[in-house]
Amino acid sequence: MEIKVADRVNAIGSYAFADVENIVTQLNKEGVEPIDFGVGDPALPTPEVIRNACKESIEKRKSSGYPSYTGEIEFRETAAWWSKNRFGIDLDPEIEIMSTIGSKEAIFNFPETFINPGEYTLALNPGYPAWSRGAHFAEGKVCFLNLLPENNFLPDLKSVPAEVLRSAKLLWVNYPNNPTTAFPTRDFYEEVLDFGEKHNIIILSDESYTENYYDEPPISILQLKKEGVVAFQSLSKRSNMTCYRIGWIAGDRRIIAAYKKVKTNIDSGTVTFIQDAAIAALKDDKHVRELREDYRKKRDIMINAFSKIGLPNCEPKGTIYLWQRVPERYTSLDFAKKLLEKEIAVVTTPGSWLSHEAHGVNPGEGFIRLALVPPIEKVMEAADKIKRLNI
Ligand SMILES: Cc1ncc(COP(=O)(O)O)c(C=O)c1O
Repeated sequence: MEIKVADRVNAIGSYAFADVENIVTQLNKEGVEPIDFGVGDPALPTPEVIRNACKESIEKRKSSGYPSYTGEIEFRETAAWWSKNRFGIDLDPEIEIMSTIGSKEAIFNFPETFINPGEYTLALNPGYPAWSRGAHFAEGKVCFLNLLPENNFLPDLKSVPAEVLRSAKLLWVNYPNNPTTAFPTRDFYEEVLDFGEKHNIIILSDESYTENYYDEPPISILQLKKEGVVAFQSLSKRSNMTCYRIGWIAGDRRIIAAYKKVKTNIDSGTVTFIQDAAIAALKDDKHVRELREDYRKKRDIMINAFSKIGLPNCEPKGTIYLWQRVPERYTSLDFAKKLLEKEIAVVTTPGSWLSHEAHGVNPGEGFIRLALVPPIEKVMEAADKIKRLNI
């Protein structure tokens, strides 16, 4: 029997991180254990306070049945309390908040709710793959908005062609930004909200990294407006909970109600004892401050190493990444490969792998991304090797 997968699956290129994994596997076979700054998956443990809450909850909820599709009310109330505390936003936990199985679930599935075949989603480029993949799977079209250094890595909304605007339904924004590390400003969000209002486009704000900052806490778009807007929050990077799969969406109640209709047909909600772990995580700020300090040390060590070999300072104000310019005579892939040579063995992601060729350029070209996730001793080891690099 011939197995024929759908065209939409065949259209998927290889996942950038799968390519990174293949290189790492090859080095492992050669007896080298590379230091991995590739995938944004923290190597440090999930804090004890969260693990304990999860263990206790498994016992407490011995016979809890299927979870609620939208999240237990205690979880939604905690998310509302946290949002008020952190951003000063008032959210009704009954209708303006819904749990997700990590933000990826909602990001990928969201276009199913709003996109008819052929309609446009606007997505940042470079960016998180699920923003555009979800749109493709909903049989929509994607218009990529390039993030370039000369625009401070903000999209140029005025450049979106009129024929795209005619059938555009969704715009993804993501600040603090993966991978460029750019920060949100009020002016930028105001421009985005005016754009959404003018063209009747729903604004989807991926706020997975609002808690990963070094000095000044970034704002949420919901501080400016809820109507026509949904923000996607995640505990993955705030609390080292990538494995737990939990986040939430918040914003316009009509959008959330529409998504609920789709979600109830796709999954069965977030596991209840994971929601209890998330409640404990949200109530505890100490571990978040400690993690921030750890990222700060790693950021400074790596920035110093790159400056020692003459590369420009890319000091980020937030996220868990560095978006480092590569030396002039290298492409981003060549430089990532240089860092992967046996004597250095540092895994980074070429910027060109995180972006699509759009409007005649690949905006990730000329950069590599480093996820500051290895333990600090490994970061120091990597920095020492990079400082000896001859470029
Ligand atoms: C910008 C962005 N959005 C969403 C996600 C998905 O995070 P999660 O599904 O773990 O909440 C990631 C993960 O790296 C990300 O970088």
